[in-house]
Amino acid sequence: MSASARNYSRIVADSGSMRDLGAAFGRLAPDGSVILLEGALGAGKTTFAQGVGLGCGVVGPIASPTFNLILEYGGRRHFTHVDLYRLTTASDLDTLDIDTVLSGDGVTCVEWPTLITGRVDSPAATLKFEVDPRKPDVREVDMSFRGEGWSALIDWLAGQT
Ligand SMILES: Nc1ncnc2c1ncn2[C@@H]1O[C@H](COP(=O)(O)OP(=O)(O)OP(=O)(O)O)[C@@H](O)[C@H]1O
Ligand SMILES: [Mg+2]
Repeated sequence: MSASARNYSRIVADSGSMRDLGAAFGRLAPDGSVILLEGALGAGKTTFAQGVGLGCGVVGPIASPTFNLILEYGGRRHFTHVDLYRLTTASDLDTLDIDTVLSGDGVTCVEWPTLITGRVDSPAATLKFEVDPRKPDVREVDMSFRGEGWSALIDWLAGQT
């Protein structure tokens, strides 16, 4: 597969469609993958991650981990939801044992991932969420993939157009 074939962009019309996109990742992302979610406050990162949890088969509410930093869920697949917004320095990561969290099985989503981008060597996806101020419910999501195991998800994305 060529490098250019591993970058995708989607216009997502509303929050339900964002959850559906996340759910596809929850079902089809490779085991042990880490999904880095970048974008401004309110861009839709948690909404997407809630969909990932649904796709992993999590039953029950999926909260924002802004205050907890790391929330873990059992399901058909293990789902881990991390939010590093409140961290300021890389040394804070050691108290979280973040490398163990990032090397877990199932699917891990990380909001505000700047501090950990250099630590991720699993199959990884980076998603950038863009807001158009003229269309408050519309988001553009730019996706890039690295590592093995993404073909099922990429096939699903290709089938959506
Ligand atoms: N297309 C869309 N995709 C995602 N969310 C949308 C969309 N349209 C409207 N919204 C709304 O925008 C808000 C997104 O909030 P969300 O908590 O998911 O953002 P966030 O990126 O996690 O923010 P934060 O950086 O504060 O954690 C929600 O209220 C959601 O309903
Ligand atoms: Mg959030």
